[in-house]
Amino acid sequence: LVGRLNVCRCRLYPPDAQTNVTRSILSRVGRGLHQQPAHPLGIMAGFIREYFGARYAYHDAISPIVSPAANFESLCFPADHPGRSRSDSYYLNRDWMLRTHTSAHQAELIRGGNDRFLLTADVYRRDEIDRTHYPVFHQVEGVCLFPQHAVEAPSTPATAASPANACDTNPRQPCYRREDSMAVEEHLKASLEGMVRHLFARAASHSVDGAAHTSSEVQMRWVDAYFPFTSPSYELEVWYNEQWMEILGCGVINHSILERAGRPDAIGWAFGIGLERLAMALFRIPDIRLFWSEDARFLGQFSPAKVTHFRPFSPYPSCTKDISFWLPPATTAPFHPNDLFELVRDMAGDLVEDVKLVDQFVHPKTGRESHCYRIMYRSMDRNVTNEEINDIQARVREHAPKRLQVELR
Ligand code: PHE
Repeated sequence: LVGRLNVCRCRLYPPDAQTNVTRSILSRVGRGLHQQPAHPLGIMAGFIREYFGARYAYHDAISPIVSPAANFESLCFPADHPGRSRSDSYYLNRDWMLRTHTSAHQAELIRGGNDRFLLTADVYRRDEIDRTHYPVFHQVEGVCLFPQHAVEAPSTPATAASPANACDTNPRQPCYRREDSMAVEEHLKASLEGMVRHLFARAASHSVDGAAHTSSEVQMRWVDAYFPFTSPSYELEVWYNEQWMEILGCGVINHSILERAGRPDAIGWAFGIGLERLAMALFRIPDIRLFWSEDARFLGQFSPAKVTHFRPFSPYPSCTKDISFWLPPATTAPFHPNDLFELVRDMAGDLVEDVKLVDQFVHPKTGRESHCYRIMYRSMDRNVTNEEINDIQARVREHAPKRLQVELR
């Protein structure tokens, strides 16, 4: 089947110089973890949907393959934004990519006549490798529009600490009346604070030691943020495990987006929340790879609409291997660590737990730079043999010179 899919894909999305998507990434497309009612990600999405209620249309099956125009241009990203680079995003070819965020669908959904909606989906970003980073994760996007001059007041006001409202670096949009923008900001903050209280309350009502964070005790604060597609923009942080944890980005939608989507009369807010980090906290899931486990010892622990703490099955031993190499000479394409991470993922799949730069120096005579990375291998659900790891490591070494233009040491 994978072979056949590959053939179809090559016909629909012929590879070119921009292509950097790998087979292991494509194998994640269509898994639909967020659509499974008894999966922690599905449970989280369900709580958010439950909180916003029937006035918000719900979408959870939009294809992750989008145009760079949808992912970036429709959202006012500048042409030189780093997120567009091949080292940060996955491209099928020049014209098609895997969405890096659910905001990629804002414009088309607004144009389609949705003025209140939620969209839950898988998103794809090239990133480092450790227990909290995975190249595929899930977000819920929320959008709420009002006619200008008729912004609703929230049923309960926002109460979390906020930065001094809309300053020079985080301005209101001059095309809106000040009171309209302020009313949208208030509706946004009140709605999202309510959503977080709801999530923590749902978690507390089932967990054994739920008393530790009952709904009234969630501490939140707003901080100024920047997104090319909202202004003013904010992030919401939650006090969790003795530190502030950033859980969502949001803001007042740029009016140009609404105009282009056929809603020049409107004003509104948008937010995007990542599901994994919050689910790891509420379900006490220690490694992000576990969300992809098909092991009944993982999946069997959860049931719809309930937050239960994950009971780890015995951790399997890890195995560590180093790889050292000279970076390509300055005259060729620069080395990007994400390319190494991708190569390791490609060879090891979910057997890689962590990749860290452990040593780095410049040769005093030749001026060449050397990196040493420590790769930690471990399976979440079985014992792996030494030979298996040696084999993977050998394949990483075999492919590194060609794919990364490095010279092994
Ligand atoms: N798309 C942003 C992200 O992935 C989050 C966001 C959504 C911010 C909507 C503002 C409005 O980081």
